[in-house]
Amino acid sequence: MLHLVKETKGEVKRLKELSRETQAALLEAMIDGSKVGTIVTDPAQPDNPIIYTNKTFIEMTGYTRGEVVGRNCRFLQGPGTAKEDIEKMKKAIANEEKVIVTVQNYRKDDSPFWNRLVIEPVHIEGNLYFIGTQTDITLERSQQQAIMANEDEIEKLMLPILSIQENVATVALVGTMNFQRFETLKAKICEYAQEHHIEHAIIDITGLTWNEKSPLYWFTQIYEALRIMGSKLYVTGISPAAAQQFVTDSDRDSRVVTFSTIERALNFIAQNADGGNHIS
Ligand SMILES: Cc1cc2nc3c(=O)[nH]c(=O)nc-3n(C[C@H](O)[C@H](O)[C@H](O)COP(=O)(O)O)c2cc1C
Repeated sequence: MLHLVKETKGEVKRLKELSRETQAALLEAMIDGSKVGTIVTDPAQPDNPIIYTNKTFIEMTGYTRGEVVGRNCRFLQGPGTAKEDIEKMKKAIANEEKVIVTVQNYRKDDSPFWNRLVIEPVHIEGNLYFIGTQTDITLERSQQQAIMANEDEIEKLMLPILSIQENVATVALVGTMNFQRFETLKAKICEYAQEHHIEHAIIDITGLTWNEKSPLYWFTQIYEALRIMGSKLYVTGISPAAAQQFVTDSDRDSRVVTFSTIERALNFIAQNADGGNHIS
């Protein structure tokens, strides 16, 4: 029997005794009021059918209680449901273990939704049941994807790679460089060179805030990555002092060609694509 209690200054006062019916009705109201879909299944029955569902599950899926009770929950699955997730749930249920998955499910009207699902075994009076809680995270997921697409767009804007003539691509770096940005630059420039059959890549660093701690040797890594693909790297917008430091800092075997302007680099490429460290 559940009791409503009130605690005042450490003293617990019993207010009222609740009947089993009131208790059940209150619990049901609580579960129905929850934003999370809840179902209970009975593995003692063939194919582990649903024996209880709350109102949210009904609203989330579009089915009536009569249509879902007595069925295995797999009716929510469809062509977009990942086989690995189904396998994961099957295994966890067989082992009576808790499992959390985010699966693509389908409502009665066939519209898809992303279901963040928690399945948990419970033992009540010696009997095993499974409780499943379902949260529709479609909106969060689409917002997250929009943010990611946006970030990708911002990244592209921060690293605008352009083909200025056949076989030649340039990227003008603006702002400050950090390791993350350098890694992105390396990946993007290699991807671009491969896609567009670029033989000469120019990185212009005129707009870059260059502090002494900036590891110039990172360019050597880009040079190496491009070299493997048969492309050459030129760094422009570099002051003679920075170029000197660059030569000293970097592996002397590397042959990154440096110029003061993009124009000079282009002239050099037009006349002679071969060359060592060079400042003009
Ligand atoms: C309590 C419980 C809730 C479940 N809820 C869902 C659900 O919301 N969506 C879903 O795709 N599968 C759900 N499942 C999983 C399926 O019912 C089934 O166990 C799964 O598809 C793996 O078994 P199968 O390979 O026999 O289909 C749930 C299972 C249990 C036990």
